[in-house]
Amino acid sequence: MYNIAVIGTGYVGLVTGACFAELGNRVICVDNDREKIKKLKSLIMPIYEPGLEEMIKRNVKEGRISFSCSIKKAVKESLVIFIAVGTPPKEDGDADLTAIENVSKSIALDMDSYKLIVGKSTVPVDTGKWIEHTIKINLSKGISFDVASNPEFLREGTAIDDFLNPDRIVIGAASKKAKDLLLDLYKPIKAPKIITDIKSAELIKHACNSFLATKVSYINAISKICELSGADVLKVAEGMGLDKRIGRAFLDAGLGFGGFCLPKDLDAFIKISEKLGYDFQLLKIVRSINEKQASDFIKKIKSSIWNIKSKRIAVLGLSFKPNTDDLRFAPSLKIIEKLKEEGAGLRVFDPQSMSKAKGILKDVYFAKDAYDAAKGCDCLLIVTEWNEFKELDFAKLKKNMRYPLIIDGRNLYDKDNLSRLGFTYIGTGR
Ligand SMILES: NC(=O)c1ccc[n+]([C@@H]2O[C@H](COP(=O)([O-])OP(=O)(O)OC[C@H]3O[C@@H](n4cnc5c(N)ncnc54)[C@H](O)[C@@H]3O)[C@@H](O)[C@H]2O)c1
Repeated sequence: MYNIAVIGTGYVGLVTGACFAELGNRVICVDNDREKIKKLKSLIMPIYEPGLEEMIKRNVKEGRISFSCSIKKAVKESLVIFIAVGTPPKEDGDADLTAIENVSKSIALDMDSYKLIVGKSTVPVDTGKWIEHTIKINLSKGISFDVASNPEFLREGTAIDDFLNPDRIVIGAASKKAKDLLLDLYKPIKAPKIITDIKSAELIKHACNSFLATKVSYINAISKICELSGADVLKVAEGMGLDKRIGRAFLDAGLGFGGFCLPKDLDAFIKISEKLGYDFQLLKIVRSINEKQASDFIKKIKSSIWNIKSKRIAVLGLSFKPNTDDLRFAPSLKIIEKLKEEGAGLRVFDPQSMSKAKGILKDVYFAKDAYDAAKGCDCLLIVTEWNEFKELDFAKLKKNMRYPLIIDGRNLYDKDNLSRLGFTYIGTGR
């Protein structure tokens, strides 16, 4: 059992804290967002993540997890301190590491004995060195510490399972003490452990996310070829994916990647490479293919309903992917803004992100459900592939629409089936 502090209680920090508590450790989750900590103390979840609420409630009850705004208290009471704050993109694409620096400084000022400080946030290669430097210059003399890197690979929507059953655990450490501590902490999790230096650990995370982004843009490029040639991208992806060297994951053609990880990490990696002296042209193309997905979708809508002005359009799905309420860099936002600019009336629905969306989207109708969204619409767009959209009552949906047209940005439906039901159906890459 370890005393652990997790600083930054977002998607990654909260799941990390909850899972370490579940494994029997004593965890303090810290955040400088007072509202978030107040909610968590009242057992109100600030995010939607399947299974998280139950896990947190159980561990609070058993005294293994607590929440605080005080880094000081957390540092004093913990041996291992995870930094899981945000690393958002700056305007030029570079990662903003201000929160990492601020937290490192606070940790140093509050340290009174040996601590292991572990970077969990996604950061540019060499950030570990800067964390170490920041701690050194702010620390009272004579206190020893280690810095390590332990990038996180969880995915929103399946975060708990990803954390507890990962493909691998990456540990970047410079000292034997740090390495042994982290290996012991992760002992209950059965997964290959990659032990390496801090720089390589940091780089593994960016290399992975950029590779995944490349797979998505690759299949989106293939889907264009499919549309032009009359082939079916679903079959092409299936045929490619069965090749063990390639794999089926991340070969879903659609509206491109969004969320808080792939777009910003891709930008950051391009920037990091540039600073190191390498022009990563491949990743620039990956980015530009992704950026075009939303505007290509708008073109598809235009060619199906002619003028967008004054047309009523239903949007099903707002979150950047299913099973999360996260709207950060969600393709839906770009698509909705473009349609609004062109004068469409929008009726939107998402199973989990409606309250977050109400704080972001203006001048749209927030529907009660998919059928309410469809009312009087000239077309219905599938933007996020939530399971509950798979099994709709299509007769009811059709009755509600002015014209039964579905433009499916996620290839959720069977074309022949929807045609039989009387819909005009336009998928992606087929
Ligand atoms: N979201 C994911 O799926 C995911 C997966 C793997 C890695 N990551 C990486 O993990 C990091 C965190 O991502 P996230 O999605 O959890 O972000 P998030 O925005 O959900 O959470 C970050 C939290 O840090 C807090 N914070 C910021 N500055 C702080 C400070 N000075 N002191 C205390 N708290 C502070 C914020 O209030 C916020 O609650 C990022 O680097 C991200 O790239 C994210």
